[in-house]
Amino acid sequence: MDRLFIFDTTLRDGEQVPGCQLNTVEKIQVAKALEMLGVDVIEAGFPVSSPGDFHSVVEISKAVTWPTICALTRAVEKDIEVAADALKYAKKGRIHTGIGTSDYHIRHKFNSNQDEILERAIAATKYAKKYVEDVEFYCEDAGRTDNAYLARVVESVIKAGATVVNIPDTTGYCLPDEYGAKIKYLMEHVDGIHKAIISTHCHNDLGMATANTVQGVLNGARQVEVTINGIGERAGNTSLEEIAMIFKSHKERSIATNINTTKIYGTSRLVSSLMNMPIQPNKAIVGRNAFAHSSGIHQDGVLKNRESYEIIDPKDVGIDESAILLTARSGRAALKHRLCVLGVDLDQDKLDKVYQEFLKLADRKKDINDDDVLMLVGKDRTETHRIKLEHLQVTSGVGVQSVASVCLNLSGVKRFEAAAGNGPVDAGIKAVKKAINNDDMTIQEFLIQAINKGSDDTGKVHMQVAYQGNMYYGFSANTDIIAASVEAFIDAINKFII
Ligand code: KIV
Ligand code: ZN
Repeated sequence: MDRLFIFDTTLRDGEQVPGCQLNTVEKIQVAKALEMLGVDVIEAGFPVSSPGDFHSVVEISKAVTWPTICALTRAVEKDIEVAADALKYAKKGRIHTGIGTSDYHIRHKFNSNQDEILERAIAATKYAKKYVEDVEFYCEDAGRTDNAYLARVVESVIKAGATVVNIPDTTGYCLPDEYGAKIKYLMEHVDGIHKAIISTHCHNDLGMATANTVQGVLNGARQVEVTINGIGERAGNTSLEEIAMIFKSHKERSIATNINTTKIYGTSRLVSSLMNMPIQPNKAIVGRNAFAHSSGIHQDGVLKNRESYEIIDPKDVGIDESAILLTARSGRAALKHRLCVLGVDLDQDKLDKVYQEFLKLADRKKDINDDDVLMLVGKDRTETHRIKLEHLQVTSGVGVQSVASVCLNLSGVKRFEAAAGNGPVDAGIKAVKKAINNDDMTIQEFLIQAINKGSDDTGKVHMQVAYQGNMYYGFSANTDIIAASVEAFIDAINKFII
């Protein structure tokens, strides 16, 4: 078996997605879950980009033991110095530096030429080598870079000391055979290629990130850059869970990863919940329907022999249908166990708080599922809010005008307001705007999603609110979807009303 290294960039490329930003505590939670999952490298952030990113790389370096911690930089000395500083507590640290190598980048982004860019690539690699032994170099937009020039860059950075060379299909443009041929070309034409590991980094703009990554591996790449649930810029990155299960299922390819696949489901749910990023129901491996057989013929076949229609045993990815159900009679230990399966480790204080919220929810809802549990864990994010919803009452129905009254707590001062609207959500949001005396924001996106099924289910609301040229994201979950909508709006406005 050949070893394939898993480089997870959920906390860097994934976290760049608007609305997916995490605070440091949440990032540490994800990093620990990734460690339990068995990833080899965690790309923890882009330290020069913000003090928050710098701090997160520092704290993740302290919190995590086994995986290499990687920090992204441009081919700029200052970036590299800041990254090296952020990595000072990492047991194994890697600097990931690089520059655009396609003509689009060289001509239009840098107004430069191939020779100058090659010099900058070599200089950045040598500079990073002064700080750490493990230096990864990325050739941004390698997918659209001429192969002969790409080979020159790869050869030069390996000579300069790069231990890993990343070949990103930054725009998700390549076809699988093209991307595979690119990796093959490098394997055959670069002098010294075996002194470094070649890495894939594929985006999903044409829905081919996973196929391209597989072709990259079959042609010689031995590191894959992936994210949980495939989250990432635009259409996302290659999904970790898909690559792990592809090579686990196709043993004849003799490629092995270190992923403990039974941790996939919990990690996927944790990331989805913390990043407020729903998973499409038909998503391979982790979607709600990934193992649901609805047609009679399939159900009959699966009952006779699971393998007639299932290529993966759900237990292999951590889905345990016989898991203990959580209800109002469940104790702390059952809740703690479920959280642990989902990759969440809480101290006693936090567990007590979540348990109290759990009991309240269990009074309103018969069975509490994993999404509910993760939603409760995230609930204390609103504790620091300056604007809090204390009370909401709405009348609505057929043939009556919707009216809402709210009581907001504005840093300790209570404000009551009422407003009418064309529906209960409109009325509630208008009342909030009156209470804060500000009507300048507009809702750009509004998504209501049931967690499971049944009329007693919890509804999740995702909202984008535009204010003074910027976009802010709000989220809430509640068994009352009107309340969830108003809470999501308040979550968003807390990010800009100071
Ligand atoms: O997609 C890309 O090219 C990247 C690089 C910064 C590695 O994310
Ligand atoms: Zn990327």
